[in-house]
Amino acid sequence: MSVTEQDVRGAAPSNTPEDVLTWVVGIAALTTPDAIEFSDGSQEEWDRLTTLMVDTGMFVRLNADKRPNSFLARSLPSDVARVESRTFICCEKEEDAGPTNHWADPKAMKATLKEKFSGTMKGRTMYVVPFSMGPLGGPISQLGIEITDSPYVVTNMRIMTRMGKPALDLIAEGKPWVPAVHSVGKPLAEGEADTEWPCNDEKYITHFPETNEIWSYGSGYGGNALLGKKCFALRIASTMAHRDGWMAEHMLILRLTRESTGQQFHVTAAFPSACGKTNLAMLRPTIPGYKVETVGDDIAWMRPGSDGRLYAINPEAGFFGVAPGTSYDTNPMAMETMKSNTIFTNVALTDDGDVWWEGIDAPAPAHLIDWHGNDWSPDSGEKAAHPNSRFTTPAKQCPIICPDWEAPQGVPVDAVLFGGRRATNVPLVAEQYEPAHGVFIGATVASEQTAAAEGAVGALRHDPFAMLPFCGYNMADYWGHWLEMQAKLGDKFPKVYQVNWFRKDEDGKFMWPGYGDNSRVLDWIVRRAAGEASSIDGVTGRYPKFEEFNLDGLDIDQAKWDELFAIDPDAWTAETDDAEQYFSQFGDHLPREITEQLGKLRERIAAAKAAA
Ligand code: OXD
Ligand code: MN
Repeated sequence: MSVTEQDVRGAAPSNTPEDVLTWVVGIAALTTPDAIEFSDGSQEEWDRLTTLMVDTGMFVRLNADKRPNSFLARSLPSDVARVESRTFICCEKEEDAGPTNHWADPKAMKATLKEKFSGTMKGRTMYVVPFSMGPLGGPISQLGIEITDSPYVVTNMRIMTRMGKPALDLIAEGKPWVPAVHSVGKPLAEGEADTEWPCNDEKYITHFPETNEIWSYGSGYGGNALLGKKCFALRIASTMAHRDGWMAEHMLILRLTRESTGQQFHVTAAFPSACGKTNLAMLRPTIPGYKVETVGDDIAWMRPGSDGRLYAINPEAGFFGVAPGTSYDTNPMAMETMKSNTIFTNVALTDDGDVWWEGIDAPAPAHLIDWHGNDWSPDSGEKAAHPNSRFTTPAKQCPIICPDWEAPQGVPVDAVLFGGRRATNVPLVAEQYEPAHGVFIGATVASEQTAAAEGAVGALRHDPFAMLPFCGYNMADYWGHWLEMQAKLGDKFPKVYQVNWFRKDEDGKFMWPGYGDNSRVLDWIVRRAAGEASSIDGVTGRYPKFEEFNLDGLDIDQAKWDELFAIDPDAWTAETDDAEQYFSQFGDHLPREITEQLGKLRERIAAAKAAA
């Protein structure tokens, strides 16, 4: 017997508004679940659902002494990352999605989804999950409701968003909300036993920016299934922001406080997926005089404040971080955050019921259960944890969470960083010459591909503003929106910096130590913001002066420094040709300012060549 209208009304909290009920009734009629629950976000609900998943085999309960209230899930090998090739922007005109998105006609996609979702929740429970992105009731925050047939999603949403009763109460007050429907796409026949990771080989991650809707089918994993994150907070929110004069960005937010004066600076930074954003957000400075506090590690929503400055909030409530490579060495604060109340996905399990992954401090134990659920030993020749294995952990548990991380009005942004993994060409840091140059820096971000999405790891791909998989509309119009926001805020708009922690020398060794030493770059950037440091005009932007940059305690002399900033004019000519070619796909959507900046970069390259 599937869920009826009466069942929906019976399960809904008494203040559920009629428009929500009508929508839920419609989705229940389409998907025919066996049962329905409205999530309230309570501890009782978490305990019940985690126990249910332990019983069905979807969760392994970790050792309560070592990792209290924490669980491990293992996905199918076919469902380990975001599926960009199956991610669609469904808007009336194809050109509004632009050449970097997969476009689908909204009517045709709705027809496909109707077919896919028909009966998709049979044998399962439908969970109705109200949530807020951003602090509850905050002026920059937004509300949504995710319907899902996955208890894994419900428990992850409880960590990643402000989920449950308080969010529904705001919706009941009449605040707008975004409907998001998710199914793993694996209905169960009468009496059929569930599998540990139900999903479907066919996946659809679809967005309807003109009606603010999200429909996701076939995947149970991460950004495909936790619809508040990439689908809402980036793809849908970027289109809302375009319409309404704000910004939704794939950026971490950190606060840097000068200990001597108490002066605070806030920096946002965009990097392609799995380039160490969580590490930078929780950086431990190796130079004295600064304290770093984390506001967010993945997404920033920014709006002009009444003082004309740009203010940022972190719309999320948790971190969905990449586990491999995270250790007490590389990110002690992340390690401390995930000591309890954490869901791990696709990491390895130790014999004493704890977690392990490549790059954690401890040497590999003699025996593990790997992410496939098989016995593993160091000579297995395979990775014990999947390279995109994750921890889902509450932000409030981070020992250096910023006291203002939930400030509803956000924190004022002083500088914006763009980076990628670049073994060659791109210097350690460069400051924009002018605002349009800042947009050009963002538009030309390219990075060696990581395991966060499907595709060939290592290949260089353009990832403008680190938004390639996340911009809900035409990427060139998005650059135009940045130019408009800059024009609106004038001098108050933060300056843009290009950074690259990943440059390698001729022997293939990283030239910059990275991690906590990135505080040296932040130090220069905030001294620039405070008008305390000078710069040298270079080919790709303004560079720090060797003698003004804090290199104390590092083995970097002038010669090595020069290598970190070396510009090969021929290689840069090739970069500009590549950029021109990349930009050409946007036709007349490409803002004139971007073409002008390309011309200016070419002039600087020619001047460097002539001077050589
Ligand atoms: C993420 C990503 O999971 O960018 O944050 O892929
Ligand atoms: Mn991300």
